[in-house]
Amino acid sequence: MAAGLLSSGDEDLSPDNVKRHLSTRFVGQAFHYFPSVTSTMDVARALAVGGAPEGSVVLAEEQRQGRGRLGRAWLSPPGGNLTLSIILRPTLRELSRLTMVASLAVVQAIRQVATQEAAIKWPNDVLISGRKICGLLVDSQLQGEAVEWAVVGIGLNVNMEPAFFPEIADSATSLYRELGRPVERLPVLIALLASMEDYYVALRLGKPIQREWARRLETVGKSVVAREGNRVVEGVAEAVDDEGHLLVRRSDGTLVHLVAGEATLRRV
Ligand code: BTN
Repeated sequence: MAAGLLSSGDEDLSPDNVKRHLSTRFVGQAFHYFPSVTSTMDVARALAVGGAPEGSVVLAEEQRQGRGRLGRAWLSPPGGNLTLSIILRPTLRELSRLTMVASLAVVQAIRQVATQEAAIKWPNDVLISGRKICGLLVDSQLQGEAVEWAVVGIGLNVNMEPAFFPEIADSATSLYRELGRPVERLPVLIALLASMEDYYVALRLGKPIQREWARRLETVGKSVVAREGNRVVEGVAEAVDDEGHLLVRRSDGTLVHLVAGEATLRRV
């Protein structure tokens, strides 16, 4: 076990054990477990291209080249966290809402074990007490207007002690840190996969999950600085629209629509 990670004593995330506890119809029913990979995104992408069924999950104990948004690295030391990718086959309309599905599912899974409420920081970070506990990433392949596959990557800090990692010590948290004790990953994983399926099915049925997502967004009403490519937008985050774009009111009164995949946010 690496420094900074604390074992809960429950480390059996093998496909057999996970599937014994799963209550889902399709998310996690194909479950691929690896001790170490470059990135679960790479493995999931290869499986998706090869025709893996919707809901297939790739989970790894360690990522040697974990990826974050906008080309950043994602710290993935071995054991203790939940580091996974889920293959989905949404429509184009649904694709733009997958980060809503995933962030709501993470918030719901955290509720199973923590009394602290998690919040969503636009576009797709999950926070507890203002610190990041989970990052989300969506990769996809389009053929014209059709989505061939999408992969949702989820990195949830469970038993990591962020203080051991100087690069995230001030900005990150984990369930261990919030609860003050090691946390069993299996129940969190099972809850996460069930919530992923519930919110994804709700999205497919046309239910307005963006309303719940918007309620959980801690960004709305705050002063923000957003970077979109080379453009810097400063103002007050006023609202989100149905597609999850953030509407920022600048001091000159103009309203700017920020697209989740392209902008990073800093609060002021
Ligand atoms: C971010 O906040 O920048 C997104 C982080 C996404 C991390 C997860 S961990 C599982 C999956 N595999 C990766 O390489 N990245 C995502």
